[in-house]
Amino acid sequence: MNNKKIQIAIDGPASSGKSTVAKLIAKKFAYIYCDTGAMYRAVTLNAINNQIDLDNEQSIVDLLQHTVIDFKTIPGGQQVFLNGKNVTETIRNEEITNSVSAVAAIKDVRSNLVKKQQKIANNGGIVMDGRDIGTTVLPNAQVKIYLVASVLERAKRRLKDNQNMGINISLDQLEKEISNRDYKDSHRKISPLRMAKDAIKIDTSSMSVEQVVNKISTIIDQKL
Ligand code: DC
Repeated sequence: MNNKKIQIAIDGPASSGKSTVAKLIAKKFAYIYCDTGAMYRAVTLNAINNQIDLDNEQSIVDLLQHTVIDFKTIPGGQQVFLNGKNVTETIRNEEITNSVSAVAAIKDVRSNLVKKQQKIANNGGIVMDGRDIGTTVLPNAQVKIYLVASVLERAKRRLKDNQNMGINISLDQLEKEISNRDYKDSHRKISPLRMAKDAIKIDTSSMSVEQVVNKISTIIDQKL
């Protein structure tokens, strides 16, 4: 490994394992990790906290002027702050999870957050995960990964995460929610979820986290 600091884009559908893998890659290469989904979630939470109807696009866009999102990396993981308040856990709740696609489809929300993301990634040494990183946010990223997994496998992973957080939702319901979010994320007008032409696709359905991290690390090493 040398001191070259590159940009690594990790995209893929909901619960494909992006954030777990991206965090580990960032740690391994001592890079910054940026979870762009958390930014869309924080904007959604702010709108809900301010009693803004999620159909009211203009009010959500206006609220962006009063929306400050910060990340802090601590030994236990990354913490997300909305206007100075730690919202790391709140942004993962079911209400936000099922509402965020609508907010992420708003053009001016996207352009605002994309600019912030590009600024964070400007100096390289970054692992950024999301839906449009390889296609829109960092089109020149030296490494682009597109993670996929079957709907059932992703629902099983969410079931496990939910159980750890004490949330009780059936596998069947989670499969429906994931399919629904896939549809919304890949059919929206602006920056729909799709694989960048130069991305490497990895199907993680039958791979362990360690195997995925090793595979991506080998791809990164070839670029350093
Ligand atoms: O990865 P996640 O589940 O935390 O993402 C939350 C939502 O934000 C998801 O519905 C898709 C959207 N999103 C997006 O449109 N673009 C990104 N770069 C990241 C997330």
